[in-house]
Amino acid sequence: MIETKFIEKHRQDFDSRISTTSDQESLKQLRIDFLGKKGCVQALMKELREVPREQKQETGLLINEFKQHVNDMLRGKEEELGKPASHQPSKNETFDTTLPGRREITGTLHPITQVMEEITAIFMGLGFQVEEGPEIETDYYNFEALNIPKDHPARDMQDTFYVEGETVLRTHTSPVQIHVMENREPPLRIIAPGKVYRCDSDVSHTPMFHQIEGLMVDKNVSFSHLKGIMNIFLQEVFGKDTKVRFRPSFFPFTCPSAEVDIQCVICGGKGCRVCSQTGWLEILGCGMVDPAVLKSVNYDSEEWTGFAFGLGIERISMLKYGINDIRLFFENDLRFLKQF
Ligand code: DAH
Repeated sequence: MIETKFIEKHRQDFDSRISTTSDQESLKQLRIDFLGKKGCVQALMKELREVPREQKQETGLLINEFKQHVNDMLRGKEEELGKPASHQPSKNETFDTTLPGRREITGTLHPITQVMEEITAIFMGLGFQVEEGPEIETDYYNFEALNIPKDHPARDMQDTFYVEGETVLRTHTSPVQIHVMENREPPLRIIAPGKVYRCDSDVSHTPMFHQIEGLMVDKNVSFSHLKGIMNIFLQEVFGKDTKVRFRPSFFPFTCPSAEVDIQCVICGGKGCRVCSQTGWLEILGCGMVDPAVLKSVNYDSEEWTGFAFGLGIERISMLKYGINDIRLFFENDLRFLKQF
């Protein structure tokens, strides 16, 4: 039978012990003695079972009150003694308030992503919409529909990653032109940024790199529209005074075709190692969409004309930032990436 006096006795016992507790070790022992499985409170609870029914509630309340008291006191003491000993600075340890704090390191967008976003924003400002296409392509989209004949050197195994049979990793973003034209009616103005793959690797080539494709189809689109758009774009990226020139070239999917050069950003046109003493840097390929391409997507080439262009983002980024090895983009060295 538990009497009030009996609980009161335990309480006095507890109070006297806690008042003399001054270290973590004895505090821990005190907790075990009173709140542990075989501790005082648990023993009282066991005895409560024997208490006659009419007294059970009252006695239960008293035990609970005592338990609450023990809990509160133990917590108070814990705070008073501070954190466990292992976390406490030793007596001869000092805290140097003049030490600099630890800074959070924030990430930045990869330079390729930054340039890609910059170029995309310029073309969106000129009314172009962004489109995407698959990185795994069929021979038809990557070559055939783009008027690239079976014996074209680009189809060589040494350039193209063949997946199996007629399937390839796209070697350029030009197949997106075909997907878009198959699914939409002209007029249209699109750009298609994305990854492309070629079996090539040295200081200026990596097996995967990024391109942006552009396509505009409308009534009466002419080469002068193409020149105007390319001029605006290149002067936005490389500066208002950038000189641009068009050089006749050849691509199977455009006719006439041109390659576009800018005056060398390194030497300003005087001639240096980067521009091979020519004063000019090749920057992109473009031209008027070949009627054969329009035919493959059932566009009437008498009614519609268009221009297309394709550029390499790594190349533009390298020239813009003066980077001389393309592989730096893919090594994930923070010392390099943090500079952008
Ligand atoms: N697809 C070409 C390449 O990867 C680049 C290109 C050239 C795209 C001329 C075009 C273009 O749309 O008109 O080398």
